[in-house]
Amino acid sequence: MIVSNPAPLDISYVPEKLFFRDDKISTIRSSVILPAKNGITNNVIIYGNSGTGKTSAVKVIMRDNAPIIYENALSFKNVKNLLEHVISRLGRPVSYHGLSFSDIFSTINSIISFRGNMVLVIDEATSLLKDDDAGIYNLFRASEIYGTRLSTILISMENPFTYLDRKYGTVTGIKFDNYSSFEINKIIADRASMSLEPGTYSDSILKYISDISGQFGSARFAIELLQKAAYMGEYRLSKSIENDDVRSAVSLINPYITESKLSLLDREDLIVLLSICILLPDSISTNIKSIEEEVKLLGEEYGIGLKKTEIYKIIRKLENIDIISSQLKSSGNKSSVSKLISINDVPVSILSMKLRDLISRI
Ligand SMILES: Nc1ncnc2c1ncn2[C@@H]1O[C@H](COP(=O)(O)OP(=O)(O)OP(=O)(O)O)[C@@H](O)[C@H]1O
Ligand SMILES: [Mg+2]
Repeated sequence: MIVSNPAPLDISYVPEKLFFRDDKISTIRSSVILPAKNGITNNVIIYGNSGTGKTSAVKVIMRDNAPIIYENALSFKNVKNLLEHVISRLGRPVSYHGLSFSDIFSTINSIISFRGNMVLVIDEATSLLKDDDAGIYNLFRASEIYGTRLSTILISMENPFTYLDRKYGTVTGIKFDNYSSFEINKIIADRASMSLEPGTYSDSILKYISDISGQFGSARFAIELLQKAAYMGEYRLSKSIENDDVRSAVSLINPYITESKLSLLDREDLIVLLSICILLPDSISTNIKSIEEEVKLLGEEYGIGLKKTEIYKIIRKLENIDIISSQLKSSGNKSSVSKLISINDVPVSILSMKLRDLISRI
């Protein structure tokens, strides 16, 4: 067994503590939650790429009894629709749809006078921000127009300030940056320790997942990879998660890859790619010298000889179509730099079989 406690690997899991986000959480608290408690309304837009902790930050704040109402915009056509839902959630039945904004905000006013000030969080609000001008306008200016003590936090993946109009009044932007590989490593090490059996994962597996996910800066992607790789390992009845489990997980999340790319390759390209695959099951990357040696051996098997310059050219081609990736690494002594080649998004064991099949058919 590899997974002993699946919950922390679930994407909706909100951890006890969010790493690296103390500053964002205190900005949200000080710019909107505390003022709201004192009757001051403020509007905030949290933005940043997928998996940067936007939703989790708000959920962490909700734990300490902040007066927050959380909604996801994807369930609603527009702001009016969403507000009608909020009203009925707070115990006021909405007898008919198509209320005016003025009806809606006067109902909210009476709810607030009874329950106290509130902060409305609208998650996944990118399309509302783009398409519902009137709704956003009424929401952001509710305090001036209707005297409503309702603060709003919108969450969006895109930076809305590129198209947000000044007419909406003052809106505070809080940007969530991508996580670095280092930060992701810390986040998934914590999840792994909560959910996986000790001894079933190594530091280097966690580092491998973090390096792949670091390209997108997404903790969401990393946790999904960890979860899927762990189940791949279990499925193989292995005692631990291996590199190819991670590659399988990437190909599950990202299934489009190989077929169409392989169709771009000729026989020589396939031989070089197969050589790289042969070098990778037990390690994360390989180097040019090992590839040259492997190509020589395979070339003999398939009756093809390739010069070094031809091999380099093919490696560049494979990089350009993103089937392999490379990294430069200084090898300690002075200025010498070597190139490390890896394949991250498809299990090399499966790719090898596919390549042998293709080579025998061309
Ligand atoms: N700083 C962090 N520390 C620990 N876990 C984190 C951190 N940031 C994100 N996570 C975890 O990563 C996953 C994704 O985070 P979250 O859903 O908050 O991202 P998001 O920015 O809302 O992404 P999306 O835009 O795709 O909705 C969650 O499981 C969350 O618990
Ligand atoms: Mg989210």
